[in-house]
Amino acid sequence: MIVAIDGPAAAGKSTVARQVAVRIGATYLDSGAIYRAVTWAALARGVDLDDPRACGDLAETLEIRLAPGDPHVLVSVDGREVTREVRASDVSEAVSRVAAHTPVRRAVTELSRKMMARGDWVCDGRDVGTVIVPNADVKVFLTADPARRAERRLRDLEASGHDHDLQRVLDDIVRRDHLDSTRADSPLTRAADAVVVDSSTRDADEVVEVILELVRTRVEAV
Ligand code: CDP
Repeated sequence: MIVAIDGPAAAGKSTVARQVAVRIGATYLDSGAIYRAVTWAALARGVDLDDPRACGDLAETLEIRLAPGDPHVLVSVDGREVTREVRASDVSEAVSRVAAHTPVRRAVTELSRKMMARGDWVCDGRDVGTVIVPNADVKVFLTADPARRAERRLRDLEASGHDHDLQRVLDDIVRRDHLDSTRADSPLTRAADAVVVDSSTRDADEVVEVILELVRTRVEAV
């Protein structure tokens, strides 16, 4: 069973994906964390963020590992733990530039598919249902209005000790959505067979129940 959850920035994908994974006995894969890890390494090593080849070469050589963690997956790059660093504003502000490069996307897609080669998974991102796993059993496009998303993201950032203000968080979300939706390679878009779930007026538990119902329907259908 593979559940793909795509959608714009800070729509609550990771919270919901983690809970769905627990409920169906699957493993959660945060594909955005891999893009963040590549971006963190590019910044740390002074790689030109606008050079597709340099970023792609880097993505291919890095040893990126993800491990279960709460509220965020634990991320390590070449043996160094960078869970906190990949959520910092410098990475959030740069990640969509790096994620737009085809060689980077190829490397991250390959790594994600390798991780999900066996077993049951809930994977979230921007192109999970369209590109990474087009034959996923359940596809959800999770969205919410930008103001709600910014409020939620601000709360998460404050809870994990990052200093931010609402306007800056909103600006980052709107800018990233634009970059992610307009890039040439695998843009953020709803798969034709994805179910749209709007979390503007639903809390995480309610969204989880909606997705579990889709999973049940799918299981009964096979
Ligand atoms: O902030 P949020 O949790 O919504 O984003 P994320 O899932 O951590 O993803 C960070 C960035 O990685 C996105 O803004 C995209 O630029 C990129 N990404 C992507 O291009 N494709 C994916 N499947 C996942 C993330």
